[in-house]
Amino acid sequence: MGFLHMVAISNPEMARQVLQVQDNIFSNRPATIAISYLTYDRADMAFAHYGPFWRQMRKLSVMKLFSRKRAESWESIRDEVDSLVKAVAANTGKAINMGEFIFNLTKNSIYRAAFGSISQEGQDEFIRILQEFSKLFGAFNIADFIPWLGWADPQGLNTRLENARCALDKFIDTIIDDHIEKKKRNGDGPDDGDTDMVDDLLTFYSEDAKVNESEDLQNSIKLTKDNIKAIIMDVMFGGTETVASAIEWALSELMRNPEEMKRVQQELAEVVGLDRRVEESDFDKLTYLKCTLKETLRLHPPIPLLLHETAEDAVVAGYQIPAKSRVMINTWAIGRDRNSWEDPDSFKPSRFLREGVPDFKGSNFEFIPFGSGRRSCPGMQLGLYALDMAVAHLLHCFTWELPDGMKPSELDMSDIFGLTAPRANRLYAVPKKRLVCPLF
Ligand code: HEM
Repeated sequence: MGFLHMVAISNPEMARQVLQVQDNIFSNRPATIAISYLTYDRADMAFAHYGPFWRQMRKLSVMKLFSRKRAESWESIRDEVDSLVKAVAANTGKAINMGEFIFNLTKNSIYRAAFGSISQEGQDEFIRILQEFSKLFGAFNIADFIPWLGWADPQGLNTRLENARCALDKFIDTIIDDHIEKKKRNGDGPDDGDTDMVDDLLTFYSEDAKVNESEDLQNSIKLTKDNIKAIIMDVMFGGTETVASAIEWALSELMRNPEEMKRVQQELAEVVGLDRRVEESDFDKLTYLKCTLKETLRLHPPIPLLLHETAEDAVVAGYQIPAKSRVMINTWAIGRDRNSWEDPDSFKPSRFLREGVPDFKGSNFEFIPFGSGRRSCPGMQLGLYALDMAVAHLLHCFTWELPDGMKPSELDMSDIFGLTAPRANRLYAVPKKRLVCPLF
């Protein structure tokens, strides 16, 4: 396309070739002009090329930001699921915009995990900035394909990019400064127990960036404010729309397939009982619910195209792929591959009960909603926790009907194909209380 080489990967064996067999060549990220500018020239992890900086950023994220030990992130999800149940309970009998309720859940949990509770008041402004970033990430810019046409900028993208980054600078600089102040006040003494991701990142803060391959993380990486801003944006982008779309699709598929809904709710009634709310300790026993969530991720992977770039020339299946080619791994097509899945377009959670069925941990290339290998999703555990928690509560606490006597088969299931693949139209549904005990 223009001056760019683009390669599409649409079946499991080819995905294995690029994500496993030759992953050392295929683990760079392509970045458009907008992405480079908005990530402070790839100062983050998601768009950094594979190399020492990315490796240390990834280590830092896995150990500090997404680790199960960061109990605050998990706690914020539990609290926000509680708020969601309360909000739904206040609207029983009415048709509610579930898409919006669900988006608020993931947005609030990630916002709190990232910034803590000290910065709640700026949320609306931040969401506005995020939405503009998202539009700019997705905007078609002719200069990405034909660089010398960049001067023309017919859509005025350059001004929008500058304004968006300025707005983010203003917003996050204040938050970072508040956190630095808080740290100074607390000195080396014990903190107030409410450490968020900005606090964790600030322990690596320095005016000058530094990275080396030392094993000791604290000595191997120093982050500037730009790094901190860019990685916070990774978390916001990586964790909000992805999880929200998976929850909304799960609920939509179950409403379109009432027999499946009955089976999941039956399991909840048997394992948990209708006289109490579902708890984390129940999850392991909710086998059919887990199958339902897997089937949702197979049909609706939240990131439909994995975007990679080649670091050097390569050959795959006899095709010559030059260095710096853009490689799109189509997880959406792979999840529906006729040679790997029986009746691939139908929603059948029971297929995941069978022995030897592919799992999404990354080594079965028929099913890679979280990617596989070096660039695979570092937030998978957190994302799955939010997905389990939200769907289990929504199905256990409430029964669901479509509004205005709509039949399940009439529910529109079209999606929007962009960086993520959410429903084209928000899901509206009518909840009724299901439990025999009080919800709170
Ligand atoms: C259902 C939920 C989620 C799904 C399906 C998902 C899926 C993915 C996929 C497919 C990738 C790209 C893999 C590749 O390019 O090969 C990715 C990367 C990433 N995800 Fe997730 N994700 C989810 C939740 C989360 C959450 C909750 C966070 C953070 C809080 C997160 C943070 C990231 C980051 C930072 C990357 C970039 C990693 C890198 O480039 O090294 N994701 N995710």
